[in-house]
Amino acid sequence: MLISKLIRTLLPADLQAPRRPLNEILVRSGYFRLRTSVAAHGLPVPDAQLYRPLFSPWEGESAFEEIFQRVKDHTLCSRDRCYILWTTLRQALANEGDVLECGVFRGGTALLQALTMQASSPRQQRMLHLFDSFEGMPETVQGVDRFKRGDLSGTSVTRVEGLLKAFPFAEVHPGFIPATFAGLKVEKVCWAHIDVDIYQSVRDCISFIYPRLSPGGFMIFDDYGFPSCPGARRAVDESFANSAEVPICLPTGQCLVVKSPSIWVGVK
Ligand SMILES: C[S@@+](CC[C@H](N)C(=O)[O-])C[C@H]1O[C@@H](n2cnc3c(N)ncnc32)[C@H](O)[C@@H]1O
Repeated sequence: MLISKLIRTLLPADLQAPRRPLNEILVRSGYFRLRTSVAAHGLPVPDAQLYRPLFSPWEGESAFEEIFQRVKDHTLCSRDRCYILWTTLRQALANEGDVLECGVFRGGTALLQALTMQASSPRQQRMLHLFDSFEGMPETVQGVDRFKRGDLSGTSVTRVEGLLKAFPFAEVHPGFIPATFAGLKVEKVCWAHIDVDIYQSVRDCISFIYPRLSPGGFMIFDDYGFPSCPGARRAVDESFANSAEVPICLPTGQCLVVKSPSIWVGVK
């Protein structure tokens, strides 16, 4: 397994080194505050403490922080990526369809989705479907993927079901994708988080989810921009090469695909 992911998997959050130590030094030294004040010509800037150097609400906006504090010890996803999940999901909940996550691991981002769905108003009848082998990666493609079979196996279905027991609308589907999609009664999807890291798994997720995605619905690919996951990017780029949708690469490493409401060319 990749060393950085191994360390993040084994150490509790409080004991881990800051992910961006230089950024941390700039925050603590007051550099960003000074920079914000100079850039604003001394005029007051609302939420000045969240400019690093641009407005970064994931660094402490109170509604998000409340959720992030509950999920942070159960996820490999950083604050900024969790913020993208939270904001896109809140918009997507205006559309019809269920919420899906492929790649659950210890359940952190699944818990974020459950909390966001529970808080949405008016809360509609919809399911949160969660897919993972809970045995780590399946066979991977040599020369394309960096992960190996069995990587990220340090979790269990019992652990995730325990984390989500307060949410009756959440259903865990243990086993390997795409077999776990077979026979599933999901006709529409409003939002999907695809966090499976490897080529074939990402392709299988797109093949199942995209045709069911509501117009205006979102697919968020967690691993698109990570050097540890070249297979994930290849799978997205190949799938959408001739589609109406243009994968939107985010500075967080994620990639966003928004289903076009008008033209549907389909995926390869
Ligand atoms: C990076 S982890 C998910 C992280 C999680 N979203 C979080 O909040 O930390 C990737 C997960 O994808 C799962 N996975 C990858 N390919 C799979 C497949 N074909 N079927 C089932 N699970 C798969 C692995 O078991 C692993 O738990």
